Amino acid sequence: MGQIVPDLVERYLRGLNHAADAVLDAIARDGDAAHLPLVDAEVGALLRVLAASIGATRILEIGTCIGYSGIWLAGALPKHGMLITMEKDAARAAIAKANFERAGLSDRVSVMVGDAALKIVKVSGPFDLIFQDGHKPLYNTLLEPLVARLRPGGLLITDNVLWNGEVVPGFVNTPARNADDTRAISEYNERLASHPQLLTSIVPLRDGVAISVKRTVA
Ligand SMILES: C[S@@+](CC[C@H](N)C(=O)[O-])C[C@H]1O[C@@H](n2cnc3c(N)ncnc32)[C@H](O)[C@@H]1O
Repeated sequence: MGQIVPDLVERYLRGLNHAADAVLDAIARDGDAAHLPLVDAEVGALLRVLAASIGATRILEIGTCIGYSGIWLAGALPKHGMLITMEKDAARAAIAKANFERAGLSDRVSVMVGDAALKIVKVSGPFDLIFQDGHKPLYNTLLEPLVARLRPGGLLITDNVLWNGEVVPGFVNTPARNADDTRAISEYNERLASHPQLLTSIVPLRDGVAISVKRTVA
């Protein structure tokens, strides 16, 4: 549990979330056991709602890990839809591929193995939705390439933008997270807020989720 949403509220939200299934629950347990930083089911449900709300057919994800958030996203795609998801760690990518298979979604998911900073030039837009959840210092590097690959009206969703409250001056007495990552996220949040092509709202769910829509008019 994080520090942003009180535990009781997190538990209440979890109790109301019936969208997870046995496969997602099993992957979440695997992630917990291996101490992997996966989104939780409430952020997963938010991703699926957002993808469904815009009728997304092309989704890009940075930071697959073992496929948990990818399954939430791909579950909103129609049969002809496509999720492209990038993961640097080959072992995690292999588990993700197996998990997409388990979830019955491998026909609409492509896992790209490698550094997203290098792989990004290999994918062309437009995407309806892009989920940034990779290496935090990469958030800034990838911002412009991702905005360029997003269709007008499309959504850029970014996880961990409150960084357990450590980006909020005075909120955390003893910071535990990497200071470079904290600085990178603070800078990223400022860039999102002032980006001329984006309208952004940060939802203080779990570790903070930024939802940015690409403007249709300048
Ligand atoms: C926070 S985890 C992603 C969790 C996943 N989105 C989920 O909720 O199920 C971040 C992932 O990004 C991967 N990663 C780190 N640097 C990367 C890079 N340069 N390119 C692609 N993936 C990267 C890590 O190996 C890790 O698995």
